[in-house]
Amino acid sequence: MTGKSKIQAVRGMVDIMPPNSRLWADVEARARAIFSSYGYSEIRTPIVEPTELFARGVGETSSVVEKEMYTFVDQGDNTLSLRPEGTASVVRAYLESGAFNTEPICRYFYIGQMFRRERPQKGRQRQFHQIGVELLGPDSPLADAEVIAMTAHFLEAIGVKDVAIEINSIGCKECRPKYNELLLAHLSSHKDSLCGDCTRRLDKNPMRTLDCKQERCAHVVLSAPRMAEHLCDSCRTHFDSVKAALVSAKVDFIVNERIVRGLDYYMRTAFEFTTQKLGSQNAVGGGGRYDGLVEELGGPHVAGVGMALGFERMMMLLEADGVVPPHGGGVFLVMLGEAAQNMALSIIQPLRKMGITVEWDYAAKSMKAQMRHADKAGASRVIIVGDDELAKGEVMVKDLRDGSQVAVKIDKLEAHFSA
Ligand code: HAM
Repeated sequence: MTGKSKIQAVRGMVDIMPPNSRLWADVEARARAIFSSYGYSEIRTPIVEPTELFARGVGETSSVVEKEMYTFVDQGDNTLSLRPEGTASVVRAYLESGAFNTEPICRYFYIGQMFRRERPQKGRQRQFHQIGVELLGPDSPLADAEVIAMTAHFLEAIGVKDVAIEINSIGCKECRPKYNELLLAHLSSHKDSLCGDCTRRLDKNPMRTLDCKQERCAHVVLSAPRMAEHLCDSCRTHFDSVKAALVSAKVDFIVNERIVRGLDYYMRTAFEFTTQKLGSQNAVGGGGRYDGLVEELGGPHVAGVGMALGFERMMMLLEADGVVPPHGGGVFLVMLGEAAQNMALSIIQPLRKMGITVEWDYAAKSMKAQMRHADKAGASRVIIVGDDELAKGEVMVKDLRDGSQVAVKIDKLEAHFSA
């Protein structure tokens, strides 16, 4: 210790340390495999974007843009923000790359950090991670249903249990303005009963009151006009088809008319994957259709639908269910004595070159200490090198999973491990 003060991570930003990082890597690998099987390819966009992208894309009335972005002016006088979500960036990249010109359907997935300056609490951080997908091109309700079915497939595959799928239709630019007027009239006549946030955004975005968690607002909403009764014919047909496709894919869902989503680009289908296990942060993921967004960001009229899952929230659910980080599956070298130490690298380097993970502790401590270390490293097998074995040109290979043990000639070690 130098006596100097320690520097701590920024509030709401969390390190992901081993062994947990192994579980993260595992979940990422599953996401890559499953999303690829639906034709999605990875997209990696910058973490920093022009602030205007989010102001225009996500919407100035959303709380995310209004009060949660990390925004700064750089040395070149550019106003930039750390991305609070992925959809706007993906659409920007889609337009900037010209992909919209050549590909009628683009399917992207992404995994990465997002930043929102919210009040940190269980399941809510200022830097968090999302796994998300964006499907650009099709306006078919089958696309909405597939995104929802794929998300359900992925959550089930990684072992996240007890998640409900809640869906709704929030209409389009034809039917929503008319509904908003009716809703506004209702809410205005009960203005005194609404919370501060809902009163403030009443004129710009009255629908946000529908998903307000405050009891007093929920009460006002009970007697409010319902979007479901004011959808135009094409929105109603679209929503009916989404539901029918989910039924035929055997994906269970419930319709919740209070799902309106907090980002302004959505139209028609809006959905959330929710759980009762995370306290007030009950959304594991969410998404919906955003057919106007590509145009809003300067492109042609292209339909879009997508979703994002909160990585930290998925991990909390897995941990709560006792899922532990997977074993490394590798090998640990146990050295007994100086002769073994001298031979060590020549024994383990060829295995590493075959792609096998080999760990060791460099020090040839006691057998017990090294075995403990092997266990902590999550090794599946240990190679034990001692004087007796070396005299015979051999090592012992012990399988920690079943306790079996065999002597293997050193020059046959690679063959043994490739079997
Ligand atoms: P979102 O609902 O804002 O949607 O975020 C998706 C998920 O990210 C949430 O359900 C939650 O699990 C997680 N999340 C959000 N904020 C935090 C936080 N502060 N701490 C921890 N986790 C958080 C979107 O971001 C849309 N871009 C999704 C989308 C993609 N829609 C269409 N395409």
